[in-house]
Amino acid sequence: MKVLAFQGSPRAKNSNTDMIVQPFLEGARQAGASTETFYLSKLKITPCQGCLDCWMKTPGICSLKDDMGGILEKILESDIIVFATPLYNCTMTAYMKAFIERLLPLENPRMKIINGHPAHVMRYPDKNWKWVLISNAARPDQKCFDNLLDGFQRKSHVTGGGLHTPIVGTILRVSGLLMAAASENAENSILPFDLDIDWFFEACIQAGKEVVELGKITQETHEILHRPFMDMKIEEIFEMGSKALDVLLADIE
Ligand SMILES: Cc1cc2nc3c(=O)[nH]c(=O)nc-3n(C[C@H](O)[C@H](O)[C@H](O)COP(=O)(O)O)c2cc1C
Repeated sequence: MKVLAFQGSPRAKNSNTDMIVQPFLEGARQAGASTETFYLSKLKITPCQGCLDCWMKTPGICSLKDDMGGILEKILESDIIVFATPLYNCTMTAYMKAFIERLLPLENPRMKIINGHPAHVMRYPDKNWKWVLISNAARPDQKCFDNLLDGFQRKSHVTGGGLHTPIVGTILRVSGLLMAAASENAENSILPFDLDIDWFFEACIQAGKEVVELGKITQETHEILHRPFMDMKIEEIFEMGSKALDVLLADIE
């Protein structure tokens, strides 16, 4: 089984997003899968130009010649696709957006009602991928992911009626900045207390295993992945964040 992770943070390997993606992939490998991470900000993936050549002139082949050609070949040999992006302005980063636009050659322009949804039929109807969505946001309220999740669910339905690209798991991590803060040593940390979130990274490993072994993230693991990092009210979290910012900005403002 092949798992490909497309990581859309401009901060690439130093990102909070990668702190989720890498343990997830470790779990997938423990379950016997092979994995590969593509750091989208390091690749040349031009946004779709809307020429529709990949539909109407050269079916399945994009007219843009950049890194996406090789990636599409790898996608055709893969089983599980991980879309990972930090939350930017209530949605995905520009890198992830360009990448998703360039998946158009996988679809056929013909549409049908599939599974109750108007959907493009697949260019490769034998292919059945599983999609996983990973994100992290600075905000502490889970609702901040509504727009991102809705967009991915719609895309999953438009692509073959969701039958060929079901979303089999999500890790949508609020208070994402705390992942890095928790791993810093006490004197460098912006946190006024120790924060042990090893349980979260263990749940990311478990999620990767489950997607390979069971074809989905179980409800139990999903629940652990979305537990708050701290037992604090949102108002208290904002107050703590604002105090940390006062310290960080004291010398430069
Ligand atoms: C341009 C920009 C837009 C952002 N928009 C949001 C947002 O809408 N909601 C939010 O909670 N965090 C937002 N953030 C914060 C990031 O989601 C947060 O810092 C995240 O941990 C970055 O992840 P990364 O290290 O993987 O890049 C934004 C950050 C930037 C730079």
